[in-house]
Amino acid sequence: MRFVPFELERWQSTWENRVRYNLSESGVHPLSIHELLELAGASPAPLLDVRLGYSQSNGTDLLRGRIAALYDGVAPEQILVTTGSAEANFVVCWRLVEAGDKVAVMLPNYLQTWGLAQNFGAQVRGFTLRAEAAWEPSPDEVRSAIAPGTKLVVVTNPHNPTGHVLSNEMRQAILSRAAEVGAWLLADEVYQGAERDGATTPSFWGSYERVIVVNGLSKAYGLPGLRIGWVVAPPGFSNEAWARHDYTTIGPAGASDHLAAVALEPRVREQVLARTRGILRSNYPVIEQWLKRFGDTFSWRAARAGRSLRVAEPHPVRLRGGAAPLPGSARRDRAGSEARVRRLRCGSSRSRRSGTRSPSVWRSRPSSGAFVRSGAVRPPSRTRWCSSCASNKPRCT
Ligand SMILES: Cc1ncc(COP(=O)(O)O)c(C=O)c1O
Repeated sequence: MRFVPFELERWQSTWENRVRYNLSESGVHPLSIHELLELAGASPAPLLDVRLGYSQSNGTDLLRGRIAALYDGVAPEQILVTTGSAEANFVVCWRLVEAGDKVAVMLPNYLQTWGLAQNFGAQVRGFTLRAEAAWEPSPDEVRSAIAPGTKLVVVTNPHNPTGHVLSNEMRQAILSRAAEVGAWLLADEVYQGAERDGATTPSFWGSYERVIVVNGLSKAYGLPGLRIGWVVAPPGFSNEAWARHDYTTIGPAGASDHLAAVALEPRVREQVLARTRGILRSNYPVIEQWLKRFGDTFSWRAARAGRSLRVAEPHPVRLRGGAAPLPGSARRDRAGSEARVRRLRCGSSRSRRSGTRSPSVWRSRPSSGAFVRSGAVRPPSRTRWCSSCASNKPRCT
């Protein structure tokens, strides 16, 4: 079977720590351990005393209790703590998807489940969020993608990369179609809590007996380095997912589990989420101002949640100054030759400080291959990324 690589993740992993301006990141500027403890008013002593043994492999009782309390009618036994929501998605797909299954996935997307399902031998069909419909998918396409016999439907809500939150009608349409064909519904809700307008997106949890929710601390909480995610599932399913997790990472790191419980203590959680929303609200106008500087080069729609803006470029552009925007192709965008669609982030608090140091945009003139900025014609850049070490230097030293 042909292996489907996770192109987007590899592209980000290669560049994200090597560029000066990371315009493709989907999280806010992360908290440090010091900042988290300070915000919580907690002493570092308990963290320093965490024993470096194997921690409870499905998550400590304290952490699972705090996660369970976020969902109506959920017991701690229904929670599986994983190494990031990426592992949560993995174990759910592993538990559910078999060769020949049909899987329906929202597009564009982070594409983890899109690639994974194919690697487990499934046939994957997409349903597309449409810019012209304020990023709602078409009800007809949803119906045909969730064909009779579909085993799994995957939604990301709030959505990455558009930041769209599904309307109530569309939620209902997806749920009823999943119920009609008897499919499981995996709701990746990792951007829940990062809504700019402050209204928390309701979870899919509880809306149908075959709903599984994945979430984690990487996005709305600004704590990706803890690598803490979780699965919320009907009784029994979490145990079956846990049995897969025995083969993947065994358990979360004890220090991460400890700090995750600190972050999810209700009073601290509110402050952590308020910090994220504050960053998004103050950085969004900065990136919008920056895009406006280039006249009609870009068009965009503001995200309701998360840090992403979907930006359509009528001309191919290059960003200079060590900037990394995410290529649309890495997310299976429906971008024709006329418009390139990329994701730009507004979540880094660094972009607030950088001001005049923002990367410059160069518009490519397809016929000449020259790069144009503010009307000036320049020769194409001779700079190449170093292919051996992936640094942004012309040559490795
Ligand atoms: C929709 C979605 N799900 C899951 C993940 C993986 O996140 P984590 O860092 O929690 O593993 C990402 C990361 O960008 C994402 O965008």
